Amino acid sequence: MELQASRSEHDPSRATRAASGSALQLRTPVAGDATPMWRLAVDTGALDVNSPYAYLLVCTHFASTSVVAEDPETQDLAGFVAAYRVPDDLDVLFVWQIGVSGQRRGAGLGGSLLRALLTQPGNGGVRWVEATVTPSNRGSERLFHSFAQSLGAACVATGSYPAELFPDGNHEPEVLYRVGPLCIDPDETKRGR
Ligand SMILES: CC(C)(COP(=O)(O)OP(=O)(O)OC[C@H]1O[C@@H](n2cnc3c(N)ncnc32)[C@H](O)[C@@H]1OP(=O)(O)O)[C@@H](O)C(=O)NCCC(=O)NCCS
Repeated sequence: MELQASRSEHDPSRATRAASGSALQLRTPVAGDATPMWRLAVDTGALDVNSPYAYLLVCTHFASTSVVAEDPETQDLAGFVAAYRVPDDLDVLFVWQIGVSGQRRGAGLGGSLLRALLTQPGNGGVRWVEATVTPSNRGSERLFHSFAQSLGAACVATGSYPAELFPDGNHEPEVLYRVGPLCIDPDETKRGR
C-alpha cells in the first residue's frame, strides 16, 4: 500500500512530505519496524511505553490492522498507529497507540495515519474506531475529533478506564472515544492490499 499522506480535505495544501519532498509511504508494518516503533514511542514522551516485544507483536500479529509511515529516502519511521479488532466485537477497531515523530507533528500525519488505517486489509467492515485518551492530552483529543469530522462521523466520549485501575496512583483516567458509525467499502480495503 502506498498512500500519499495528506491533511484532511479542509486543508489539502499542507500535505505531509518527506524531507526529500516525496510523499511519505504509509504501509503495513513488518517485523523490522518494531524497534523503530518502540523508539518513537519512547521519544514521544507522552505514550505509555510498552516492551520492544509488544511492538514486535503489533508488527506481526496485528500488522494487517495497523499502519506505519516511513520516509522513503531515509527509511526513518515518521509515525505509526497500532490497532486491532476487538475480539468480542469485530465491528470495533481499537487504536491502541498512535505516535508521530516530534518534527512532523501538526502537519496532518496523525489524521492521514488514521484514515489509512481504514483501508488496511484487516479492517474491512469496521463500523467504529475507538481509542482512549487522557484528559490532559488535548492534541490526541483534537486528532480524533478532526478524524471523525473528516469522515462525516460523530466522535463521542462513551466511558473510561478510571485512574484507580492503574498502579501507583499516578496515572490519569483513560477516556474512551468512539468514532462512527462508519461505512467502509470492503473493496477499498482490498485495494489497500
Ligand atoms: C497526537 C499526535 C499523534 C497527533 O499527530 P499530528 O500529526 O500532530 O496530528 P495532525 O497534524 O493530523 O492534527 C490533527 C488535528 O489535531 C490538532 N492537534 C494536533 N496536535 C495538537 C495539539 N498539541 N494541541 C491541539 N491540537 C492539536 C490539529 O490542529 C488537527 O486539528 P484540525 O484538523 O482541526 O486542524 C501527535 O501529537 C503525537 O504523536 N503525540 C504524542 C503521542 C500521543 O499523545 N499519542 C496519542 C495517545 S495514544
